[in-house]
Amino acid sequence: MFDVKKIRKDFPILKRIVNGKPLVYFDNAATSQTPQIVIDSIVEYYSNYNANIHRGVHTLSQEATNAYEEARIKIQKHFNAEKSHEIIFTSGTTHSINLVANGFTSLLKIGDEIIVSALEHHSNIVPWQMLCERTGAILKVISISLTGELIIEEYEKLLSDKTKLVFVNHVSNTLGTINPVKEIIEKAHSVGAAILIDGAQATPHIKPDVQELDCDFYVCSAHKLCGPTGVGMLYGKEEWLNKLPPYQGGGEMIAEVTFKKTTYADLPYKFEAGTPNISGGIAFGVALDYMNTIGFENIEAYEKELLDYGTKKLLEIEGLKIYGTSKNKASVISFNIKGIHPFDIGSIIDKLGIAVRTGHHCTQPIMDFYKIPGTIRASFSFYNTKREIDIFIAAVLRAKQMLE
Ligand code: ALA
Repeated sequence: MFDVKKIRKDFPILKRIVNGKPLVYFDNAATSQTPQIVIDSIVEYYSNYNANIHRGVHTLSQEATNAYEEARIKIQKHFNAEKSHEIIFTSGTTHSINLVANGFTSLLKIGDEIIVSALEHHSNIVPWQMLCERTGAILKVISISLTGELIIEEYEKLLSDKTKLVFVNHVSNTLGTINPVKEIIEKAHSVGAAILIDGAQATPHIKPDVQELDCDFYVCSAHKLCGPTGVGMLYGKEEWLNKLPPYQGGGEMIAEVTFKKTTYADLPYKFEAGTPNISGGIAFGVALDYMNTIGFENIEAYEKELLDYGTKKLLEIEGLKIYGTSKNKASVISFNIKGIHPFDIGSIIDKLGIAVRTGHHCTQPIMDFYKIPGTIRASFSFYNTKREIDIFIAAVLRAKQMLE
């Protein structure tokens, strides 16, 4: 049974007092909080078996290597990748996207087209613009409707035999829209294009099956799903990972080095130069275990309740407008109140112990689309409660009265 009171006890930070008030943490889309079991796994690593991996014959190194490789297998199973070497450890979503974008430099030529959506985080825009600068490829953009959904007919019009690559998010960090990625993937494949799905905001809420989706690449960050910062993953189909050149050169990614010629290691090590975030990788696996114990079906159902409740309560506030009203939505609510700057509301409710994000949320094209400077974004996780939403609503009303 899903027991939020019990779950909250797993997160030491949720007991914090901020500015004299109990913390209400609604900035989960920026980073999730960390359960004790994940914190313990990091302490345990540094206390008992801190050693470099894949390098030593000694016991500590073997223990660390085993734990790190076990984490890779946990990630493989979680995402249902066919092979464990299709999982590459990275420092996070941004690193994963840059790795792929860099790899496509030698695969694109002038006039090739690549497609992004207007719903993307800057980290799924800028690396591709840089790729276009390097190759002469052209970036096309799928536009969105006022509800914050991708216009699929526009996407269909953009697709042609010139399209080489499509990259869209699974869930929008700003609007919460859950995109119909299966359909988007099928359409990309129908013209022979590869497709990357940015799962940074989907993976805290949904358990994706990469084989079922049939995406070529899927990327995410551990810190959005109860893991530590500085670690994430790239899933890539084996055939694609074999086609892409290494991203960084260094130790661990080689088969043999001579001054005449260096040959590269097999997957996944070809993409894992340098000493990785070992404790982070291990803790990523522990975080997935933790969330799977709670169960993603339970998480989805409970967060939907929070989303519906929060939406209803917010809409009772006069002059409040919600951005992103798609039917299929994760527990993220972006809003503004008429005549008030989002930053002012964010600052006042912080004084009342409430953490939200304000601003453009690294999605300036979405702000331009709605012609606004930014929004206030409340993003709920499975450890939040309706009572916290009530406290938040009261705080927003108080801020509104002060600012009007
Ligand atoms: N991408 C993160 C957010 O949306 C940081 O807040």
